[in-house]
Amino acid sequence: MEHTDFVLTPAIGKNFVGRRALIDELVKELADRRSHIGFCLYGRRRVGKTSMLMETKHLLAKNDNVIVAYLSLYDVADLSSATFSEELINAVITAYQEKGLVPLKMRIRDLISTPLSVVGELLKNLKIETTIAEHIKLMLEYKDARDKGKNYSDYVRQAFNTGQVLANATRTKCIIILDEFPEITKFENGLQLVKMLRTQYELQDKTAIVISGSIKKTIEVVALSEGSPFYKQLIPKHILPFTEKETEEFLKLYLGKVDKNEVHRLYGVTGGLPFYLQFIGRSTKYSGSIESIINTFVDQEGDLFFHAEFEKLSEKEKLIVTSLAKGASNLTEIAKDINEPTTTVGRYLPTLLNEDIVEKESRGTYLLSDKLFSYWLKKRAAR
Ligand SMILES: Nc1ncnc2c1ncn2[C@@H]1O[C@H](COP(=O)(O)OP(=O)(O)OP(=O)(O)O)[C@@H](O)[C@H]1O
Ligand SMILES: [Mg+2]
Repeated sequence: MEHTDFVLTPAIGKNFVGRRALIDELVKELADRRSHIGFCLYGRRRVGKTSMLMETKHLLAKNDNVIVAYLSLYDVADLSSATFSEELINAVITAYQEKGLVPLKMRIRDLISTPLSVVGELLKNLKIETTIAEHIKLMLEYKDARDKGKNYSDYVRQAFNTGQVLANATRTKCIIILDEFPEITKFENGLQLVKMLRTQYELQDKTAIVISGSIKKTIEVVALSEGSPFYKQLIPKHILPFTEKETEEFLKLYLGKVDKNEVHRLYGVTGGLPFYLQFIGRSTKYSGSIESIINTFVDQEGDLFFHAEFEKLSEKEKLIVTSLAKGASNLTEIAKDINEPTTTVGRYLPTLLNEDIVEKESRGTYLLSDKLFSYWLKKRAAR
């Protein structure tokens, strides 16, 4: 009997499993109005970062003193700081509107495309806090200047201050979630922009930011390594796949029943990656023996899903990952298996490690990070 429907979108509320200690810590710290502490969530692709962020937002929604704005940098389609500013203003003001704290009926998006003179009149007639009205006007003036091709370097800085202005005016705390944060490094002068945000963030006392991303290297460059802009400004949290216990919890919630041996086998083959647990559920409903479930999934979905991942690799990388999947674990073994000098393998490994496709098991030994991908590769190689 199925209890909960499997989801391939972020899991929130009744769909959300595990990670209790971390969720509690985030919610507690962010709900504290005196605290300005923010977080940096990082972890592999599809491990559940967005779900963590959305569940945190969902739990904080009960709190009237804390307003949470969510923005994914994937939505900044043209990768420009101007669009980023607009999206940021939109996310923050909309979050306040939804809580009834900004008495503006019009959607902020529509307001942005209204002529400045009209907006001025409009705001005057509203019972809107002066500082908020002034801020909105300022934002639109910047937009206007930008549209006329003028310099607008202050625009981003002021846009990022929207949370602070609204929080001050309404005696609340504003949480700004920036999902897929590493995308910002693709903007023109991206790192410069990150530094500016950091400087600005230090001056804000009524906001907290939470950033997240999966690209290890960029997360390090912007937040984790010494000398990076957000170093020691945000508490880093590594989001790991489910533990075996959480995998069990997952099946209990979604299926209503579990068999410990099956949990163990499923955990072993998926590595506890939430996405796979959902995806397998979606395509097999977990009916049948665990071996047939795994094989049905890998045969039906794997040839599409993993094949696409595999095709993103270069020819040499393909050989290396296949060799790892078959059990080679160090440079010498891989080199021998693929008939290449160890120096060649050594040249390709760093990229694979950086992209989290391969991980170091111990000194000099490696394995594929994704257990199910590894299983598929091994099966494919034996065909
Ligand atoms: N705590 C959870 N409970 C149940 N399912 C989860 C949980 N976390 C993630 N999932 C599931 O895993 C999949 C990936 O989740 P999510 O999109 O949150 O991951 P992500 O790390 O943000 O991925 P990406 O790297 O693609 O942005 C989704 O199908 C989601 O429903
Ligand atoms: Mg995500």
